[in-house]
Amino acid sequence: MKINGFHYRTIWLHPNDPTCVQVIDQRWLPHQFVIEDLRTLEDAARAIQEMHVRGAPLIGSAGAYGIYLALLNISKKTDWKKHLAHAAITLKNTRPTAVNLAYAVDLAVSRLRSEPDVGKAIEVALQVAHQITEESVEHCRKIGDYGLPLIEKISHRKNGEPVNILTHCNAGWLACIDHGTATAPIYAAHDKGIPVHVWVDETRPRNQGARLTAFELLEHGVPHTIITDNTGGHLMQHGMVDLAIVGTDRTTRTGDVANKIGTYLKALAARDNGVPFYIGLPSSSIDWGIRDGLSEIPIEQRGDEEVKYIQGLDGKEIRNILITPEQSPAANYAFDVTPARLITGLITERGICEANEKGLLDLFPERVIV
Ligand code: MRU
Repeated sequence: MKINGFHYRTIWLHPNDPTCVQVIDQRWLPHQFVIEDLRTLEDAARAIQEMHVRGAPLIGSAGAYGIYLALLNISKKTDWKKHLAHAAITLKNTRPTAVNLAYAVDLAVSRLRSEPDVGKAIEVALQVAHQITEESVEHCRKIGDYGLPLIEKISHRKNGEPVNILTHCNAGWLACIDHGTATAPIYAAHDKGIPVHVWVDETRPRNQGARLTAFELLEHGVPHTIITDNTGGHLMQHGMVDLAIVGTDRTTRTGDVANKIGTYLKALAARDNGVPFYIGLPSSSIDWGIRDGLSEIPIEQRGDEEVKYIQGLDGKEIRNILITPEQSPAANYAFDVTPARLITGLITERGICEANEKGLLDLFPERVIV
């Protein structure tokens, strides 16, 4: 996607230095555009843990590049297979909910294990990281293709009046490598000339909607309005939302969806008001090994400072401001689970299906357990 007219992805290999992976450091958006160099396993792990990079597909890609960096910096004396195992655990422990991270790291490890020496392993690690990244871009593009007719249909029904779409958190290109998941159909519709308008949930505590989704939509020229997290229900009651599309960090084989905290409440409001509620997801976000989202998806809990402080621009400086009594404790659950029964459909790279095991297996028959 474009920033100031230049095409960017969220992660790439430095064009003149193959020992360096570069990312957009999202902590400073929308106020500062910072590119960060990652050179070691520790750099990659910190960037994921502290959310310089975030969003399920992007942390998958960053995890794969993290494996590459880990091997690249190995000393001659180190047992590279032991170090590979250590790097995999380090990276997977950074953020527990998004299954894309484990998917990418496990894929890299499984491809590397049989390599004869570290030199060859480094080569293959880079190939795997590139492959995961390219696959992610392609999957997001296809989610756009399959989701577009949903928006077209509503636009037709409204005689070309703008289609109002609500989204939560940032499931845009910043959360992926390009296009986004939830935003891919929105960009596809906008680029095709279909009038759309996006209600952007601010998404406390880290404000991924207000900071990142709004930034992306603005850069791409998509009409949008930022709303507080509590506004969606009111808008739905008044017929001001035609469609909700969000992303996911982990979806079970039965269609339960973990996504940014607050998604469940939006799904409840959507159900009560007859608003279609869709999930945009690449198959790398599906955890085929679990069936019950509520009991089986690990929910990340983050530090209370993310709730107690708010970040913003003060003059030219980005600052953190305390907004609660200093002594009050705060809880910070980063994700929640929306049960499959509240979901209208899953928009994947292979098409749209119902949020249940049959729907998913019809699209991904190779996952049938025999
Ligand atoms: O904590 P974050 O910012 O990594 O959470 C991101 C989300 O919840 C996104 O909605 C999800 O990763 C889907 S991304 C395409």
